[in-house]
Amino acid sequence: MVQEFRLHKNDFVLPIFVHDQLESTPIAHLPGHQRVDAISLMAHCEHILTKGIRAIALFPVIDSDKKSPECDEAVNPDNLVCQVTRRIKKAFGDDIIVCGDIALDPYSSYGHDGIVKNGAIVNDDTLDILAKMACNQAAAGVDIVAPSDMMDGRVLAIRDALDNDGYHDTLIMAYTAKYASHLYGPFRDALASLPQFGDKKTYQMNYSNRYEAAIELDLDVAEGADIIMVKPATLYLDIISDFRASTPLPVAAYHVSGEYAMLHSAARDGYIDFSEALYESLTAIKRAGASIIVTYGALDIVDILQ
Ligand code: PBG
Repeated sequence: MVQEFRLHKNDFVLPIFVHDQLESTPIAHLPGHQRVDAISLMAHCEHILTKGIRAIALFPVIDSDKKSPECDEAVNPDNLVCQVTRRIKKAFGDDIIVCGDIALDPYSSYGHDGIVKNGAIVNDDTLDILAKMACNQAAAGVDIVAPSDMMDGRVLAIRDALDNDGYHDTLIMAYTAKYASHLYGPFRDALASLPQFGDKKTYQMNYSNRYEAAIELDLDVAEGADIIMVKPATLYLDIISDFRASTPLPVAAYHVSGEYAMLHSAARDGYIDFSEALYESLTAIKRAGASIIVTYGALDIVDILQ
C-alpha cells in the first residue's frame, strides 16, 4: 500500500534489430536478442504481444553494400524499416506501436549519425535528410519517430516536414539528452556501425555535464517534441529526475545495450542475480521519473512481473 512506484508492462518499449537476410543471427553481446529476418519478425511480434508488450523500437541492420557516404538508403521510401513497418501495421494495426529510429549511422559508411564532409559531421546538411526519413517512415505507418542523432534543430525540421506532408498524428520522441557514452558497444556491434573515425562527442553530450541538458530540453520542447528522452538510463538518473521536474511532457529513458549486457555478464559470472538486478535497475529508472522505458529486458521483466 505504501510502495510508491510499480513497474507495469505498459511502461516498456522493446528494441528489435531487423536485417535483410533469410535467417536470424545471434548478436554476440546482447543475450536474448537477434538480428531478426523479416519473416521471423512477424512471429516475434505475435510472441511479444502475447507477453503483453505493445511498443517496439525498430533498428535496421543495413548490408554494407547499401551503406554510403551520402546515406542514400536512409531516404529510400522502400528501405528495410519502411518495408517491415508496412508488414507489421498490416498484420497488427494499432496493437503494436512502432517507433522508428531517425539517424544516419545505420546507413553511413562512416558510422556517424550525420553527414560527413571533410572529416567533420555537418549539422545543417543532415536536417533535410532526417526530415525526409521521418516522412517516409510516417508514410509506412511508424507511429513515433525517434531522432537519436543529436543534430541541433532536427526536432523542428522533422515537425515541419511531418506537418507539411499531413502526418499530424505522428509523435516525435526526441533523444533529448543523449550522452557520448561507452555503453553503446553491443548496439554498434549488432549494426556494424562503429564510427570509422573519431567519436560522437561533437554531437552527443559530455557525460560530465548535467545543466547543459536543460538547454537541450528547452530546445526540444520548443521545437515540438511530444516525448523527451534521456540516454543511457541507470548512470543518468539525475538527468531523468531533472527532466521530470522541469516539463509535464512524458519522460522516456533508454536502458541501453551496455547496461543490459552488464547485467547479463555479471549474472553469468555469478556476481548478481539477473532478474533481481534488472527489476531493481528498471524500478530505479521509473522512480527517477521516467514513465517510458526502452529496454532490451522488456520481455524478461514482463515474465518477472507475472
Ligand atoms: C545511434 C544510436 C545508438 C544507439 C541507439 N541509436 C548508438 C550510438 O549513438 O552510437 C545505442 C543504443 C544502445 O546501445 O542500446 N543513432
